[in-house]
Amino acid sequence: MKYEHIPVMLEEILEYLSPKSGQNFIDCTLGGAGYTIAIAKKVGEKGGVLAIDLDRAAIKNLESRVKGLKLNIKSVRGNFKNLREIVGNEFKGRQMKFSGIVFDLGLSSAQLEDAGRGFSFQTDSPLIMEFGIGSAEAERTEDIVNGWRREELEKIIREYGEERFAGRIARSIVERRKNEPIKTTGQLVEAIGRAVPPAYKRGKIHFATRTFQALRIATNKELENLEQALPQAVDLLAPGGRVAVVSFHSLEDGIVKRFFKKESKDCLCPPTLPICQCGHKARLKILTRKAVKPREEEIKNNPRARSAKLRVAEKL
Ligand SMILES: C[S@@+](CC[C@H](N)C(=O)[O-])C[C@H]1O[C@@H](n2cnc3c(N)ncnc32)[C@H](O)[C@@H]1O
Repeated sequence: MKYEHIPVMLEEILEYLSPKSGQNFIDCTLGGAGYTIAIAKKVGEKGGVLAIDLDRAAIKNLESRVKGLKLNIKSVRGNFKNLREIVGNEFKGRQMKFSGIVFDLGLSSAQLEDAGRGFSFQTDSPLIMEFGIGSAEAERTEDIVNGWRREELEKIIREYGEERFAGRIARSIVERRKNEPIKTTGQLVEAIGRAVPPAYKRGKIHFATRTFQALRIATNKELENLEQALPQAVDLLAPGGRVAVVSFHSLEDGIVKRFFKKESKDCLCPPTLPICQCGHKARLKILTRKAVKPREEEIKNNPRARSAKLRVAEKL
């Protein structure tokens, strides 16, 4: 299968990260390699890009895309939540500091469109929504759907999916699985379809979209991974180096926003304390007071960019 993904906000990423010859970068979410290759071209052979992805298909795609090009790219199949360890393994013994680290969260178009991957409700396939199939760190989607309590399902569908019919959908899933386990995306869509009102089914977005999003986020522990990776990214930046995060979900954007805010403050003590007791020192300067959104032109050409938000901060 051809691996296709149009990079989102690539121009903005290049503007903010401003890669120069000889510098080193990390792309924590290789995907279709749009960012990786663009950055690698700017840093040249004296610099380099470490590109990480959980998905073997992304790594394989990179290999075919860079064949014959003189670029210095190391690719690693791994979870960016282990960023420090991945860098340690790749640059054994060297105290590497990077000029920029980028995250472009969520899934690629190639993953969504891969009929066997279970990310899409458009085709009937096994319920696997893992970015890195077989990764020990992910939940199994089937276990979530068939094993989690109704309340837990409702919570993730409401919070991660921002689905207003979360309660009804969770109940319907629990009803459906009493007879036999839900094993395919088709069976799941059917259970969701039974729960939502007919008008919702005629809505602009497919009625299963939000539930599928919730299950994908829970399967891959996407929010936890991001929480764990951000502090490691800051540790790995050289002074003046920048961390850029493109997110597509308000919960992810909230994590980035709060983290940047906290790391840009010198003291985190409650205002009632007369003297600082925490000793926290600012490590970041925020470069995007408000999240940057894609230009209209980009959204027109690539509707998937619509919900993207970019935040960037610089290491002090
Ligand atoms: C939106 S795509 C990135 C697209 C890329 N920027 C480009 O220009 O083509 C997100 C990628 O991140 C990967 N990914 C998501 N969570 C990850 C994690 N915790 N660790 C490593 N890769 C992850 C997914 O497998 C997917 O390939």
